[in-house]
Amino acid sequence: MFPFSYCNPTKIVFGNGTVTQTGAEVAALGLRHVLLVYGQSSIRRNGVYDAVTASLKAAGVAWTDYPGVSPNPLLSHAVAGAAQARAAGADGILAVGGGSVLDEAKAIALGARAPHAVWDYYEGRATLGPGEALPLAAVLTLPATGSEMNGGTVITHDETREKRAVIHPLLNPKTSVLDPETTLTVPPTYVAYSASDAISHTIESYLTRPPAFLPVQDGYAEGVVRAIMAATERILAAPGDLEARGAMMWAATLAWNFLGSCGVGPWSTPAHMLEHPLSGLHNVPHGAGLAVTGPAWMTWECRRRTDRVAAFARRMLDVSEADDAAAAAEGIARFRAWLKRIGNPVTLADCGLGDAQIPELARHAAILAQAWATGAEYTEETCAAILRLAR
Ligand code: NZQ
Ligand code: ZN
Repeated sequence: MFPFSYCNPTKIVFGNGTVTQTGAEVAALGLRHVLLVYGQSSIRRNGVYDAVTASLKAAGVAWTDYPGVSPNPLLSHAVAGAAQARAAGADGILAVGGGSVLDEAKAIALGARAPHAVWDYYEGRATLGPGEALPLAAVLTLPATGSEMNGGTVITHDETREKRAVIHPLLNPKTSVLDPETTLTVPPTYVAYSASDAISHTIESYLTRPPAFLPVQDGYAEGVVRAIMAATERILAAPGDLEARGAMMWAATLAWNFLGSCGVGPWSTPAHMLEHPLSGLHNVPHGAGLAVTGPAWMTWECRRRTDRVAAFARRMLDVSEADDAAAAAEGIARFRAWLKRIGNPVTLADCGLGDAQIPELARHAAILAQAWATGAEYTEETCAAILRLAR
């Protein structure tokens, strides 16, 4: 195993009905007035808003509403939210929603306290110092991104459409409430997109890590991917299946709380690097975009890491080919077919994109390759070549 240090400061409260504990959990953090950040309308329609605000009231916590977070959240809305948090005198943030809401809530938490402009942190021109973010709690309603148990936040710049991330432990939610009942209204489209995202989070380190004997990490990834696939099948067959909703919720959290990648050595996220321009420039849902870029990238990558793609194929998709190259090819085909069957787009054309968009997508991906140190091989030309495999 490779050396690592791991600290995850997020408390998880998991279980059916736990949304009613939100107020008590927020009060236990010492918060008295929170900015309640949420999306367009889902929590108003499915009763989660009422359950959360009733629990805040019962716990004596005041709140100021800040709705309107969009999927692929925008910088301008986060900056306005930070101003609102300051104006309201909020001593913390409560995010209620999916990854977009949690990510923007983190940008608001940062913007309300940090000395530099919010975008400076996303561009890497500024780094958070101690105490430079308001404390944040979360109620997750859409399991996919892992934002509920990590310090990551992804925001899109309104004008340039660049999608950038900050990862900092100060931005980990102090507490995240994971109530599977709040996810019963997630529609089949987002069930599919979420499975694609959470699987990608699990397999990017699995596929890119250096060769080594890593049975703990491999077993973790294989278990999480199998759980996501099984739970997704069950949810699509029976949307009211709470056991499956719960399994998906915890699996997606474990997929991106960076526990599974501890000790794997250097690894990278090329499928995500290629996807962010799709969602940033063209507003493709993040998980849907990964269903396009993931298999295309694997097809390109399996010439170099046939062993890892073959391991993915055999241990996660039950491919039985003895030859590594044949197993890898069969695995990619099965994976793409599964993503499609559950309801994802799997080609650029499925997203309404084509050759005309590839140069701009590749240019943005190559910039991210540098920012994320994904690898010098990911030039604009290489990124374009990989995207052409997704036509
Ligand atoms: O806005 P509302 O009305 O709430 O509707 C949302 C939204 O339209 C809806 N939704 C959420 N919970 C629901 C529900 N609908 C019915 N019932 C519920 N219980 O779902 C739609 C999509 O929500 P969104 O939050 O955008 O989806 P997701 O969780 O996939 O988040 C995607 C964002 O997270 C970023 C992505 O780039 C993207 O911007 N990521 C964040 C990461 C992180 N923080 O670590 C890592 C990821 O790789 C990813 O980049
Ligand atoms: Zn993702």
